[in-house]
Amino acid sequence: MTTFSTTYPRQLLRVEQGGDYGWPECYFDSAQKKLVLAPEYGGNGGKAIGPCAEKKQPIATFPAHWAPNDLTLYNRQAFPARYRGGAFIAFHGSWNRAPLPQAGYNVVFVPLGGGNPTGQFEIFAKGFAADSLMSPAQAAHRPSGVAVGPSGELYVTDDVHGRIWRVAYTGRTNSASSAAPRKVVPQSVPKAAPPEGIHPDAGAQSDTAATPAPKRSVSRSALAANNITPAMVALGDSIYRGKIASGTCAGCHGADAKGSALAPDLTSKKYLWGDGSYASILGIIRQGVPRPKAHAEPMPPMGGAQLNRAQLATVAAYVWSLSHT
Ligand code: HEC
Repeated sequence: MTTFSTTYPRQLLRVEQGGDYGWPECYFDSAQKKLVLAPEYGGNGGKAIGPCAEKKQPIATFPAHWAPNDLTLYNRQAFPARYRGGAFIAFHGSWNRAPLPQAGYNVVFVPLGGGNPTGQFEIFAKGFAADSLMSPAQAAHRPSGVAVGPSGELYVTDDVHGRIWRVAYTGRTNSASSAAPRKVVPQSVPKAAPPEGIHPDAGAQSDTAATPAPKRSVSRSALAANNITPAMVALGDSIYRGKIASGTCAGCHGADAKGSALAPDLTSKKYLWGDGSYASILGIIRQGVPRPKAHAEPMPPMGGAQLNRAQLATVAAYVWSLSHT
């Protein structure tokens, strides 16, 4: 499947022996609500179906890039009846859904009966990352696992600050009530003394979105020598931050460009790649970094965004200016 597509929904499959779910030649077209032929196999934007008509369809789908990480079936009695037999899914959240806004970072419930959904999926718990902080570098928490405990409580794990939440239902469960269990909104957990905190930063809200751009004073002659104008740097700054063209850079390199676990510092004047010249920075952004030297995950070409030549030139100008103050 094309990793950087914004259009391929995530699928919930009911696996049966010998079942063929269309991987890799089919993808689920959300407009037509069926599997269609992928472009790599001769597909043309959803018109050609070909062998996909014969494949087993997903039983539910979720928006692209929500990044499901874990699923558990609820086979206990502690939650109200409608939860029994349904599925809880932890969505790690997107790092890039350009041109759509970042999303996911939640726990979803899918009511199931007889092996099929009995209704629409619903967001069971959210707020792990504030809306404005839905990026891998900024999210305070990202759901990564779900498990049901022996007393029917639900556990949700987070892999940013190492938290575990326990969700328990405190109402009466002997009726077929559709009342939802008390929902957790993790961001409302008091910052002081997080009960589960083992990491010194547990409970800390990342506020890098509010971090002002680093102060720069690039000399005009240095700019001119590279055919860079202050206006380009300003525009590149907006793209870097995703304010326009759905740039993704801040999501990995940080709003202050000082790097994160996912990507290096761009302000340090030390380069892992290239010589720090404008041309070399531009080339790296265009091609991405398929095999990072010091980070686990690659940087996709253009950071995964769709930048035209002018936008690429401006974001490169901005990055260049960061290390030429
Ligand atoms: C998915 C995370 C991710 C995104 C999004 C991303 N990068 Fe990167 N970037 C990386 C990684 C990983 C490296 C390589 C680090 C290494 O080799 O260990 C890198 C390297 C770079 C480098 C070279 C740095 C050096 O030290 O030589 C530049 C320049 C750069 N990125 C700019 C950008 C810009 C501009 C954007 C937005 C258009 C962007 N990146 C988006 C992860 C990302």
